[in-house]
Amino acid sequence: MKDELIEVRKRLLSAKSLTVLSGAGISAESGIPTFRGKEGLWNKHRAEDLATPEAFQRDPKLVWAWYQWRRVLIATKNPNAAHEALVTLETKAASFSLITQNVDGLHTKAGSRLVIELHGNIWKMCCTACGRKTENHAASLSPLPCCETCQGLLRPDIVWFGEDLDPDNLNRSLDACRNADVMLIIGTSGVVQPAASFASIAKEAGAFVVEINPQPVLSYLADLVFSEKAAVLLPQVIA
Ligand code: APR
Repeated sequence: MKDELIEVRKRLLSAKSLTVLSGAGISAESGIPTFRGKEGLWNKHRAEDLATPEAFQRDPKLVWAWYQWRRVLIATKNPNAAHEALVTLETKAASFSLITQNVDGLHTKAGSRLVIELHGNIWKMCCTACGRKTENHAASLSPLPCCETCQGLLRPDIVWFGEDLDPDNLNRSLDACRNADVMLIIGTSGVVQPAASFASIAKEAGAFVVEINPQPVLSYLADLVFSEKAAVLLPQVIA
């Protein structure tokens, strides 16, 4: 592994444009459950019942209860050494982009500034009637939160299955993948599009691709694969 660490450090030092894609795995060591794998959230809950516009239409109380449970859990968690290592990388890289699929806000809490929250943010809400966006960190959401402007029902400002990403976030992410000369893919199972295609887009554009995941999924295209936990490996990368 020593040679691989030397190689990745060299690549990062010489990188003109570094792009990072993170998934739930980067927050695992902060105590936030991932979605897939043996303890995954989707093993205990049906995504169709909790993370789709149809589910919210059918039973907003149930969906809000699910996000309320996750908000209360996330509120007690802090960034780990992997999040912090990315803050250091951001300060060192000539050009840096961080794309996250996570909605937990831990990259921002760690101090990352240039974060593209591809799937939204669990602390943000938007009005189902007028579209007004708001942010609220309050634990209790009872009764269900309503818009201060029009009294419409608020929903989590999260991209649910079957919904389109924010076009600006998607375009900025695609640009970051196409312009990267080094791309780090950290803690994602690579099953949800379009994020699942970002590594191959970067690779096709000439990037040196590095995966960090105890159960790697990109061995077929990555130039380097570290079958290691992010909070263990990333601090070694920036050492
Ligand atoms: N360090 C690095 N990777 C880890 C760690 C760790 N400590 N622990 C687990 N992993 C890896 C797992 O091996 C797995 O490949 O993190 C990945 C987590 O995969 P998922 O749970 O599928 O999460 P993610 O890929 O982010 O899911 C994508 O699916 O449910 C939707 O919108 C949701 O953003 C989410 C999207």
